[in-house]
Amino acid sequence: MMKASPKLSTATKKKVVDLRGRIAPQSTIIAVGAGKGGVGKSFFSSSLAYFLAQMGHKTLLVDMDLGAANLHTWLGEGLPSKGINEFMKDTNLTIGDVISPTMKNNLHLISGASEGLYNGDISDAEKSRLLSALYNYPTDYIILDLGAGTHTSTLDYFLMAQHHVVVFTPEPSSIENAYRFMKAVFYRKIRRYGSRLDIDQRIEHITKNNHNIKSPRDLLNTLHKEFPEISKDLKEVMNQLQFQIVLNQIRTAQDRNLGKGIKSVCQRHFGLPCEFLGALSYDNAVWQSLRQKKHLLVANPYSHLYAQIMAMARKLADPSQPKNMVS
Ligand SMILES: Nc1ncnc2c1ncn2[C@@H]1O[C@H](COP(=O)(O)OP(=O)(O)OP(=O)(O)O)[C@@H](O)[C@H]1O
Ligand SMILES: [Mg+2]
Repeated sequence: MMKASPKLSTATKKKVVDLRGRIAPQSTIIAVGAGKGGVGKSFFSSSLAYFLAQMGHKTLLVDMDLGAANLHTWLGEGLPSKGINEFMKDTNLTIGDVISPTMKNNLHLISGASEGLYNGDISDAEKSRLLSALYNYPTDYIILDLGAGTHTSTLDYFLMAQHHVVVFTPEPSSIENAYRFMKAVFYRKIRRYGSRLDIDQRIEHITKNNHNIKSPRDLLNTLHKEFPEISKDLKEVMNQLQFQIVLNQIRTAQDRNLGKGIKSVCQRHFGLPCEFLGALSYDNAVWQSLRQKKHLLVANPYSHLYAQIMAMARKLADPSQPKNMVS
């Protein structure tokens, strides 16, 4: 049995109240992540952006894969003269200065292509400047195409969004890596929340020493019991993290069914609502259109993928889905 922990200080409780006054971003931000490279994050991000733009929404696609940026190629665009790299180097530039138009109406791009600037090279101050510039940029949708892996910068970019899309493929290694990514996101969010309230050490202690905690869900349940004063706020904050699952490169009906299974495992494991956004077929037309330097949706509008992606864009753009509060 765990010992009942001492009550939270008045200062901590005041912080909970202060944090309720969080400001909302100027747009709906959708982050697209995965644990593994090559699963289709950039394909999905660029396709989703294309459809949102087609639906009449002003859409900004941002290449956050700073080590291996290639979104301009996915859109069939040349390399823009300015992008995140220039924004980082020159503090006189605004985010608007590094946005490039694309051939598609309503669709703009911030390129991440760079010579030598990598995710890990960005300082906390630079990261904050970038995040706050994106956060305050007024448009309809911002889509963040993230790099693979669980670098803290990647996790923070993912967490700044209101929609958290995770791309899986049916291969076991991709599923394993995606869970690892989601777990890293979950713990990063708890840790950030804990450090804002100065209870991070206590959370760390509980995580390490309570042997009944076998999953993120167990940790959440334990924290609710340990800190009843912040339970309501904790629930609200963690509920912002609703993973939206995309299963890419499916080849069989069996693959398609995996999506629902992944969703229910995620819900059980994280103790948070998850959504299966949909499945995307494997189609050679994807790499063929890339070779033609055109986006698939332009080069091959008759692919099954066209309808599949459109359905997901409609789901994501559904106005009945409330904007989440920001942590
Ligand atoms: N639905 C699909 N059908 C066929 N091929 C696909 C599909 N989705 C992606 N691909 C192929 O997989 C490759 C990787 O896709 P993509 O670049 O979008 O992955 P990524 O997750 O962004 O990778 P990275 O982490 O390296 O940025 C592409 O070159 C493309 O040809
Ligand atoms: Mg990519």
